[in-house]
Amino acid sequence: MASLEGKSVVVTGGAGFIGSHLVDAIAAKKPSRLVALDNFFLGNRDNLKDASARFPKLEIVDLDATDLPKLRRFFETKPVDVVFDLATIPLPASLEKPHWSSKVICDLALNLCELCREGAFKTLIHCSSSEAYGSAQYVPMDEEHPLKTETPYAAAKAAAALLVDSYRRTFGMDMAIGRPFNNYGPRQNGRDFSGIIPRLIQRIMKGETPVIFGDGKQTRDYLHANDTARGLVLLYETESARGQTVNLASGQELSVLQIVEDVSRLMDWKKPPKFDPPRPADVRRHCAGVEKARKLLNFAPQVGWKKGIEETVRWYQANPGRLSP
Ligand SMILES: NC(=O)c1ccc[n+]([C@@H]2O[C@H](COP(=O)([O-])OP(=O)(O)OC[C@H]3O[C@@H](n4cnc5c(N)ncnc54)[C@H](O)[C@@H]3O)[C@@H](O)[C@H]2O)c1
Repeated sequence: MASLEGKSVVVTGGAGFIGSHLVDAIAAKKPSRLVALDNFFLGNRDNLKDASARFPKLEIVDLDATDLPKLRRFFETKPVDVVFDLATIPLPASLEKPHWSSKVICDLALNLCELCREGAFKTLIHCSSSEAYGSAQYVPMDEEHPLKTETPYAAAKAAAALLVDSYRRTFGMDMAIGRPFNNYGPRQNGRDFSGIIPRLIQRIMKGETPVIFGDGKQTRDYLHANDTARGLVLLYETESARGQTVNLASGQELSVLQIVEDVSRLMDWKKPPKFDPPRPADVRRHCAGVEKARKLLNFAPQVGWKKGIEETVRWYQANPGRLSP
């Protein structure tokens, strides 16, 4: 087992949703140095309050990771052992600005590949996305599932993962790729380009009817962000996982209708949802194959949907400022 204890660790996108939960998880592992690197496009310093309390040496670095010369200078200041690469532009932004967001997503991965190749740090743990698979051609979707991407976001995430893997094959880069399916939990961005769960909670809090795009029978595989963070840590710690791509998911299929029903019940919302036309290129079905994570990482989710979604709803109710006004 590799250990994060005593290691110098950088998390790109560390002030974001999953990134900040990962910073929490790494802080508990007693690293010698821990950096949350973020340009605050959607990141939030409040996401790092818990980690700073637990690990007062936490460094929060405001830096655009697409700027290769600046990023190189950052790595030249102090040695780094491992980078967890979580910075991203989210899917909804790729529907408005496909050219820009796709370029940024690829540059974020490529810059780290290049710096790792130059010896700026030893190991790259890259965070991909189940969107890279597109709609399920079969379920459960294992890591061999074809990359039949739908949106520019998905295509860019697939390209970024392929680039990371190409640096291993071509230059022997020390890497592994975590491929999370949908995530939920406290701290998910609830303002610009927000996801379905914060948007749903926000509408109900404002007394507005929840909206479902399409028939609501489309499914997703939801994992709590704490579990994803734990999975990414295990991915680093498990040396036999180097060079591998591993799904991080629950293996359970949840329909959008079910999500709306559960959140409505938790928020005492009694009226039926409104149905709008489907979003372009929305994936129809997602359910992960989780055998590889179980066998290789000994990974199993610890937060069940029922408990996790209640915690999430209560968190947004206590932090309404984290939702769009
Ligand atoms: N949220 C999900 O459901 C989900 C599902 C599967 C995979 N993922 C992947 O997990 C990772 C984290 O996603 P998230 O949901 O936490 O997103 P997020 O938007 O909450 O976090 C991404 C962070 O990256 C930062 N960032 C953007 N551009 C940057 C740049 N140029 N330089 C430095 N920082 C930059 C943002 O400010 C933000 O804090 C991403 O790789 C994403 O593709 C997320």
